[in-house]
Amino acid sequence: GLQSPGRNDECWCGSGKKYKKCHLDFDERLEELAEAGEEVPPRDLLKTPAEIEGIKRSAKVNIGVLDYVAERIAPGITTEQIDQWVHDYTVEHGAIPAPLDYEGFPKSVCTSVNEVVCHGIPSPDEVLREGDIVNIDCSTIKDDFFSDSSRMFCIGEVSPEAADLVRVTKEAVQVGLDAIKPWGHLGDIGAAVNAYAREHGYTVVREFGGHGIGLEFHEDPFVSFVTEAGTGPILVPGLCFTIEPMINAGAQEIDMTDPNGWTVRTADRSLTAQWEVQLAITEDGYELLSW
Ligand code: MF3
Ligand code: CO
Repeated sequence: GLQSPGRNDECWCGSGKKYKKCHLDFDERLEELAEAGEEVPPRDLLKTPAEIEGIKRSAKVNIGVLDYVAERIAPGITTEQIDQWVHDYTVEHGAIPAPLDYEGFPKSVCTSVNEVVCHGIPSPDEVLREGDIVNIDCSTIKDDFFSDSSRMFCIGEVSPEAADLVRVTKEAVQVGLDAIKPWGHLGDIGAAVNAYAREHGYTVVREFGGHGIGLEFHEDPFVSFVTEAGTGPILVPGLCFTIEPMINAGAQEIDMTDPNGWTVRTADRSLTAQWEVQLAITEDGYELLSW
C-alpha cells in the first residue's frame, strides 16, 4: 500500500485539509477491514474528487457519442458507418476512441450484432437489418481519463424474444446498481444480476465482465456477474468501475474461435445482449459517471 501522511500533513485526496480532519478515519477503516480478512482495494484504485471530475469530462464525450449514434442508427446502416460516426464525433470533441489500436483492435468502437456477445469489429460488409439487435460499446479517452459505456439498439421492429432479452438485460444493470451498498461487497452486484437473469430464463456470460476504469482503460477489480453475495473486494468510496453483464437467451457457453481474434459469439448462436454503465462508489451508494 501507499504510505499515509502525518496527522497534520495535507490529506492524500487533494482536499487541502489536514489528514486527521479528512481521510485518517477512512484509512483506519480500510486497515481494520484488511485485518479482518476482507479484500480491500489498494488506495491507488480509489479516485480523488479531482480525478472523478476528469472522468466526468471524458464521460461527457462518451455519452455524447452514444446519443449521436442513437439519433442515426437505422436499417441499411453498416457497422462501418457507425465506426466512422464514433471516430469523427470523438476526435471533433478533443478525445480519442480508446478501442483504436488497443491490443491490436482495428476500429474505434465495438459493434456486436445478434449472436455476437462482444468485441464485434465494424465492417462495410455488415448491414443492419430490421429485426437485428446490436450493442454499441464506446470507450473514450479525454485528457488521459477513460470512460466506457454501451447500449443496445433494436433495429426497426424486433421479435418479442429479442425485445425481452434487451429489456431484461437493461433491467439487470439496474438490479446490479440497486445491490450496491457502500462498504458492502463487489460480489453482491454479480449475485443480483445473475439471479435476475436466471429468473427470466437467461444465462450470464462468465468469461467477460466489468472492470475498474478511470486512469486506465481496464483497471482492477474484475467485475464478474456470476458471483456470490458477500464475497469479493469491499466497495470502498472512490472505487470506480463498470457494470456490463452479457446475457444470453440460450446457453451460457461462448465461442472465441473467430479467426479475427476478437469476435465472441454464443456457442449455440442464441441471441445475446449487453448494457454497460460506469460508476463511482460514494459514501451514500454510487454515482453514475457514464451510461
Ligand atoms: N469496451 C470493452 C469494455 O467494455 C472493451 C473493448 S476492448 C476493444 O471493456 F479492444 F475491443 F475495444
Ligand atoms: Co467496459
